[in-house]
Parts: sequence; structure tokens; C-alpha cells
Amino acid sequence: MSQILAIESSCDETSAAVVNGRQVLSNVVATQIEMHQKWGGVVPEAAARAHVEAILPVIEEALEIATCKVSELDAIAVTNRPGLVGALSVGVTAAQALAFAHKKPLIGVDHLEGHLLAMLALPDEIKFPCISLLVSGGHSELVLIRAIGQYELLGQTRDDAAGEAYDKGARLLGLGYPGGRQISEQAASGNPKRYDLPRGLAKERYDMSFSGLKTAVLRLVEQEGSSINVPDAAASLQAAINDALIKRLRNAIEDYNPVSIALCGGVAANADLRARVEKLAEQNQIPAYIPPFSLCTDNAAMIGLAAAARSGPGVVTVALDLQVHPNSNIFGKDS
Ligand code: KG4
Ligand code: ZN
Repeated sequence: MSQILAIESSCDETSAAVVNGRQVLSNVVATQIEMHQKWGGVVPEAAARAHVEAILPVIEEALEIATCKVSELDAIAVTNRPGLVGALSVGVTAAQALAFAHKKPLIGVDHLEGHLLAMLALPDEIKFPCISLLVSGGHSELVLIRAIGQYELLGQTRDDAAGEAYDKGARLLGLGYPGGRQISEQAASGNPKRYDLPRGLAKERYDMSFSGLKTAVLRLVEQEGSSINVPDAAASLQAAINDALIKRLRNAIEDYNPVSIALCGGVAANADLRARVEKLAEQNQIPAYIPPFSLCTDNAAMIGLAAAARSGPGVVTVALDLQVHPNSNIFGKDS
């Protein structure tokens, strides 16, 4: 077991957590959502500045909740890719300073690996190979996890991410930012069959496309004007996005016969998607690993879980020259 302080600042949440092996002792998240609501999206400069303000109080709170001193830590982990370079640098600099001052190993973690391994917080024995659907505001990937550290990209979006499709659709429907949660709330009382929205790249087995949806929703809003039924439009949008995702997951189960499936990333907070993944698992008589909400949206606990899982022999503990990168590297190339 190793006790790790983890730091995450790749996008619009400043987060710090303490984990011990697969146990999450604290997970503090300071969100910038309110600030970015004004602009309708994340403004990189403003995000970096807000991380600077939040980072130290968030780290202190995470240590306090876990009743843990920096001197008791085995390592410090930090997201160093992918993400906004300015935002990432704030977390990495804080982690480097702590590691230097307290002579602790510093572990750079890929944000995508963090999302994929958030499921380690579940009490289940995690069985591989596992097919995971990683869906967030910046990513939509179908990943074959052969083992911890061995990830194969089966398919991905060719344009917008699933979360982006939720956010853009919500904005067009006047539901504000970030839109995923509002869409799912509205959709709960809507008719998903009311409006016919496209399922992009229908013939592709694994790859997806969501950019056509945005145009279709725009056209719908223009056509219907004030008579548009927002819950029905939200339910139709949710159905279009989730149909596309579930279809790819079903294809991957058929082709790879995994012993488990998983759902992760911010869009995994979507109740309809969670229910459909669980149903798919039941039909195939395999377990579905879906982390709790707090570990689905961006958070540092998932970064700590990934670092702890990888901190056996052979782990790369990086010295103070840890670099930030805009792209992920878990599939063996900048992706
Ligand atoms: O993983 P995450 O916190 O940040 C990224 O790494 O991108 O994901 C944020 C995304 C946003 O696009 C947000 O709209 C979406 O997750 N999201 C949802 C729901 N809650 C958050 N999408 C659909 N339904 C939800 N309930
Ligand atoms: Zn994320």
C-alpha cells in the first residue's frame, strides 16, 4: 500500500486527493464552472489563473480531511497530460515544489488513465480484459484494457466528444453550461422519440461522430422556434448520443468477448447511459464497473488511484523535470 497525494488541474477543476492503495481518503474539488458559465465555455487563461488561486487551499484541505502530513506520504502524483498547458502547469508546479521540499517521488499521470482507473475505488475485484467507454467533455474513446497499464484504443470520436455534444446541444436549447446535467434532468420528463436526430457514422463499428448533432439541433431550434418542447428535445438528444455510444460498446463486446465492461469520464454521470451500460452487462452476464459520480467528473482521486496502481516495480517516478503535454500518451503515441 502506498499513500499518495494526487493533484489534478488539467481543465476547469482544481482538485487534490489522498489515496491509500485503492482507498480514497479525501477528494477535494474546487470547480470553476461558475466563472466559465459567463463565457459559455472554458477560457484557458482564466482557468490557469483560477487554478493558481485554488491550488494551495485545495491541497491543504485534502491533507487535512485525510489527517495526513506531507511527511507521511509515499509519493506525489500529478496529471501532466493531456489538457490545457497553462492549467496543467499550475498543478505540476505545485507538485514539483512539494516533492522537492519534502524529498518525495513525483509521479506524472495521464488524465485518461486516471479516468479509466477510477473504477479501482469500487469494492469489486476488477477483472481484465475490460472494455471501457471513456466519455468526457474532451474525449470519447472505446478502450480495451488488457491489464493496468495496457490500453488499446478501439475507436474514438472523429470530431466532437460526447460531453461536448451534450454541452453544445444544451447551449442551443438555452440550457446553459455545462449542459450535460441539464440535458439529463430535462430528458427525464421528455419523449426521446419526438425529434429525429442523426446517429453519425452509423456504419462504423467503433468510431463515432457527434458534430452532425449540433447542426441538427440548431436546425430544429430554428424550425420549431418558441414552440419547441425542451424536455422532448433534450430526451431526443440524449437518446441520439447514448444510442451511438452503446452501439459501439455492444460491437466491442461481440468482437472481443471481454470479461467485464466499464464506463468512465464526466458523461458517465448520465443516469440513462449508466442504466444502459448496466443492462448490457447483465445481458452478457459480465460485471459493469461504473465509478460513483464524484469519481466520474474530473477529480484528483482518480489520478491517485492510477498512480497507486502503477507504483509497483517498474513505475516511472519522474524527477523535477516532469513536463506537461497537451496530448495523451496512453495508447503509445500522442493521441
Ligand atoms: O470528465 P469531465 O469532468 O471533464 C473532461 O475531462 O472533459 O467531463 C465533463 C463533461 C461535460 O461535457 C459535461 O456536460 C458532461 O461531462 N456531463 C454530463 C452529465 N454530467 C456531466 N453529460 C451527460 N449527462 C450528465 N448527467
Ligand atoms: Zn476528464
